[in-house]
Amino acid sequence: MKCCFSVFIKDESKNKNRGSNSVPESGNQSKSQGNSDSRQTSKSFSSSRTIPELYKEKQQNLRVFSLEDLKDATNGFNRTLKIGEGGFGSVYKGTIRPPDGRGDPLVVAIKRLNTQGLQGHKEWLAEVQFLGVVGHPNLVKLLGYCSADGERGIQRLLVYEFMPNRSLEDHLFNKTSTLPWKTRLEIMLGAAQGLAYLHEGLEVKVIYRDFKSSNVLLDESFRPKLSDFGLAREGPTGDRTHVSTTVVGTYGYAAPEYIDTGHLTIQSDVWTFGVVLYEIITGRRTVERNRPTSEQKLLQWVKHFPPDSKRFSMIIDPRLRNNYYFSAAQNVGRLAQSCLKKNAKERPTMSQVVESLKQAVQESQEGSNGAKKSAVSLSSRTGSRRCN
Ligand SMILES: Nc1ncnc2c1ncn2[C@@H]1O[C@H](COP(=O)(O)OP(=O)(O)OP(=O)(O)O)[C@@H](O)[C@H]1O
Ligand SMILES: [Mg+2]
Repeated sequence: MKCCFSVFIKDESKNKNRGSNSVPESGNQSKSQGNSDSRQTSKSFSSSRTIPELYKEKQQNLRVFSLEDLKDATNGFNRTLKIGEGGFGSVYKGTIRPPDGRGDPLVVAIKRLNTQGLQGHKEWLAEVQFLGVVGHPNLVKLLGYCSADGERGIQRLLVYEFMPNRSLEDHLFNKTSTLPWKTRLEIMLGAAQGLAYLHEGLEVKVIYRDFKSSNVLLDESFRPKLSDFGLAREGPTGDRTHVSTTVVGTYGYAAPEYIDTGHLTIQSDVWTFGVVLYEIITGRRTVERNRPTSEQKLLQWVKHFPPDSKRFSMIIDPRLRNNYYFSAAQNVGRLAQSCLKKNAKERPTMSQVVESLKQAVQESQEGSNGAKKSAVSLSSRTGSRRCN
């Protein structure tokens, strides 16, 4: 669940986006749309367009659903079709008619806002506008939305492509099955490509701000797609290095300088990526209260087991058994450490992270082929473990 620390949002534009006519049109909205914080940029610094401006051009790609459509799609939001619950609201599996009305019904995920108030609306609007603009194989596809304000309060819903394998979190911390090492790396590689696109591949820089394993959704082939753009922000333009925000996010994931100052940068996402790298290495959550005190906070615990030491093997997810290469895991540990540099400027860019992870996947691939060819000789090599 997000927003576990300092949840208040200062808001200069109250009611701007609310009311019965609150469909996400973009024309007159402020630049910091979807986020109340002041964006320390101005058009005079850059000619690049803002997300609301870009959204205006693309909004016709999104379908607008009525509440009736989505009730039909979910059998009246039937409990048996509920597939998840987060800070925003409940998620249901549903079926809708295809856009042209022909062919088989489409299976979708429908997220229904169940928190009243401005923050929920802002997150919904940010999600519609960001996902209405972006397009990448590693970002979840938003198909449409519903916005209805009636006697029974505001109704805000989002309709996404359905991701049959749920989230990375669901697999990583699952007690009954183990996500193979190579699949973990491939998922992180895809997620890194999604983040690199947000940071570097668009006309505007987008800071995602909510990278975590529950927001990495998995398709039928375990290809990852980032979801939840409710906290996303446009990055700084011109000479600016950061945007100022009220601190929101998920406890255990946010970068220290962001928590201390509210200054949000592209590098804040890189830190968070490093946290999730440690989750895939250790198979542990960022905070686990049922552990001994010294092990409860993931980042503090792993400090005692640096990747360049032999002790590093002691923190590797025991469920992997010997099915990984120690040297490849060390490289991923080193990458995580670089993402978690205290000085944000020393962290790698996401495209550098992508390159490192490509190498790690390749190393694991080579290790796997080698292991198949000569399992005996590999297993006798000191410090080398087979990957799968
Ligand atoms: N498009 C989707 N396809 C399939 N399942 C989904 C989809 N979107 C969300 N889910 C499921 O619903 C769960 C809840 O998602 P949601 O984003 O609301 O909450 P969260 O990510 O767990 O927490 P937070 O509110 O902090 O982001 C996800 O973990 C996932 O299992
Ligand atoms: Mg989520």
